[in-house]
Amino acid sequence: MIFESHAHYDDQTFDVDREELLKKMPEWGIGRIVNVSASLSGVESTWKLTQQYPFIYGTVGIHPDEVADLDEEKFSWLRIQCTRDKIVAVGEIGLDYYWDKASHETQKYWFIRQLALARELKLPVIIHSREAAQDTMDILKEYGEGLGGVIHCFSYAPEMAREYVKMGYYIGVGGVVTFKNAKKLKETVQQIPLERILLETDCPYLAPVPFRGKRNNSQYLVYVAEAVGALKGVSAQEVIEVTDKNARKMYDLQ
Ligand code: NI
Repeated sequence: MIFESHAHYDDQTFDVDREELLKKMPEWGIGRIVNVSASLSGVESTWKLTQQYPFIYGTVGIHPDEVADLDEEKFSWLRIQCTRDKIVAVGEIGLDYYWDKASHETQKYWFIRQLALARELKLPVIIHSREAAQDTMDILKEYGEGLGGVIHCFSYAPEMAREYVKMGYYIGVGGVVTFKNAKKLKETVQQIPLERILLETDCPYLAPVPFRGKRNNSQYLVYVAEAVGALKGVSAQEVIEVTDKNARKMYDLQ
C-alpha cells in the first residue's frame, strides 16, 4: 500500500469533507499517512487526527514561515508534544527565503534549535527549504549529521540531492514530478536510488497532473508513483512497495 509521507489534512480546505475523504483512504490503497504540522495550532490539530484514525501518524515542528511565534516557553511545550503517542518526526522545519516571513537569523536560530530537539529525542527531521539551498546545506552539514530525515518537496539541483543522499537523507517527491517543466526534479529522480525516495503530496498543495491546480489529496499519489516509475524504468507498483519500505524505515514504523 502507498505510504503518504507528508500531508496537511488539518488544513482548512479539508473542513468541508475531511472525514469522508480520510475514511476512504484505505480502500484507495493508502496504507499510512503522516500528517505534518507547521504551526503551533497545527501541532494540536495534527495530534487530534492521529487519535481519530489508526493509519495517521503525526509530526511536531514549526515551519520557517511561522517561527516568529516561537519563544522559550513555547519551545518547551513543543518538546513535550514530541514525546506523545504516534509522533514520528520533528517537522516541518527549515528555511524559506521565498516568503521571508521572519529574518534569516531568526529562521536559522529556530531551525538549529529544532534540529537539536530531534537529536535529543532521537527523531528524524522533515526539512522544508525554499530558495535557501546553500544555507540549508550548511546548517544540515553542521547540525544534521546522522539525524536521518527527508528533504521534503525537493526543488534544487540533482547534485545537491545526491549530496543529501550521501548524508543519509531521503528525498521527498510529489506532484511536481508529473509537471512537464519539472526538468530538475525528473533528473533528480533518475540520479538517486529508489531506496532514497519518499512519496508525498504536501496536500492540499501541488496536485499532480491531471489534477494540477486543484486541491490535492493522497489518492492522487498513484500518479506520482507512475511518473517516478517511468523515470526509473520500473512499475508504479514497485515504486509503491519500495517507497513504503523507505518511509517505514525512516519513521521507524516497522
Ligand atoms: Ni508541507
